[in-house]
Amino acid sequence: MANFDVSKRDSFGSKIGVIAATAGSAIGLGNIWRFPYVVGENGGGAFLFVYLAFILAIGIPVMLSEFVIGRSAQLSPYGAFKKLAPGRPWFLIGIMGVGAAFMILAFYAAVAGWTLEYIFQSVKNGFTGKSPDELSTMFDEFRQDSLRPVIWFLLFMGLTAWIVISGVRKGIEKYTKILMPILLVILVVLCIRAVTLPGAGAGLTFLFKPDFSKINAETILKALGQAFFSLSIGMGTLITYGSYIKKNDNLATTAVSVSFADTLIAILAGIAIFPAVFAFGINPGAEEGLVFITLPTIFQQMPGGYYFSLLFFMLLAVAALTSTISVLEVVVAYFVEELKMTRKKATIFATLSISVLGIVAAGSWGWFENLTLFGLNIFGLLNFTSANILLPLGGFFIVAFIGWYFGKEETRKEAGNEGALKARYLPVYMFIVKFIAPIAIALVFLNGLGIVKF
Ligand code: PHE
Repeated sequence: MANFDVSKRDSFGSKIGVIAATAGSAIGLGNIWRFPYVVGENGGGAFLFVYLAFILAIGIPVMLSEFVIGRSAQLSPYGAFKKLAPGRPWFLIGIMGVGAAFMILAFYAAVAGWTLEYIFQSVKNGFTGKSPDELSTMFDEFRQDSLRPVIWFLLFMGLTAWIVISGVRKGIEKYTKILMPILLVILVVLCIRAVTLPGAGAGLTFLFKPDFSKINAETILKALGQAFFSLSIGMGTLITYGSYIKKNDNLATTAVSVSFADTLIAILAGIAIFPAVFAFGINPGAEEGLVFITLPTIFQQMPGGYYFSLLFFMLLAVAALTSTISVLEVVVAYFVEELKMTRKKATIFATLSISVLGIVAAGSWGWFENLTLFGLNIFGLLNFTSANILLPLGGFFIVAFIGWYFGKEETRKEAGNEGALKARYLPVYMFIVKFIAPIAIALVFLNGLGIVKF
């Protein structure tokens, strides 16, 4: 067990700091890049419905569980499970989380690199006069380039490392609470432009009108994976962040507010994207390229589109950055606490090793296009495996830990701030983490992977 001096841990400066940093982790490319294309590929409204149900019934309870574990142990995942369950194998959840963080950061920072390319293109006025088809070609050509995606990726990793080295409070808290509200405003402006396009209605119907015939075991698993991915849960990110939350903050209201903000941003991204997709005849199944084709199309239909485009991709990069730092933090905290490295050394070591995998992910359409497994390139493999397998599996064990090992009394103490809060939701929450969530995750998981057929 690590002899980590708890008194020296950083903590978030204020209540709004906690929410800002946690929301900063949750809100990112998952909402604005991944959510729309996953909804597009999986049939629209019915998928959204299942997704929302999972956020409510599983996502929020898992998030609260991570906070409880992190704040009660005052350690990052691996150390936390060793402390709360000495001599038991629960610490394996922590190791799985470090593995998931590795995989997520490798492909996520590659996409974050794409946003840098799109900032660059915005500056150069590179979208002007291009039809959706031409924008689609532009995106493909960029991704197939042997160098550019890799260089942007490395730049983004460096940026992430630099912020993580500068420490928790200073590094994270300062930027998020100013920039995320601006992103929200721009998204709302984009939504207004999108829904007033001629032919926008079909997009809104696609997004909001459920057609349950489009739902099957695999799409349900993908909705669960997207919920976990978007909320940053299932790998211990929020255990680490929970360990920085002050003892008098309310964990349950924090979990609810963050989940609400995260879901709001995802839905707004959907409202900005789908009306335009239908209005311009873009293919809703355009995979990872969907936002990168659709948004530049919308910007061209707006007064001041040049500036909106620039500002939007800059803020998207920042939103991605507040997520990548939270992912890197998981690996760094592990190295600091368990391998006794300095924060700086741990960050450099983690960044370099993740970058090796990330170069392959970023080059998945270029240098490494022939490297495929199960019909997926390395990027696709990391994306699928982390979101749809590792995170739900992690979430399963996290709720099971609270429900079956940590127990009601300890949870009441931690979530109720040692009696200062009533925590009336506790019986319902305990029932969910003991039965509903683990059973639901297990069923969705086994069915979705085709291990069991119902
Ligand atoms: N939730 C982040 C996003 O939506 C991504 C993320 C996943 C961050 C898992 C941390 C852990 O962009």
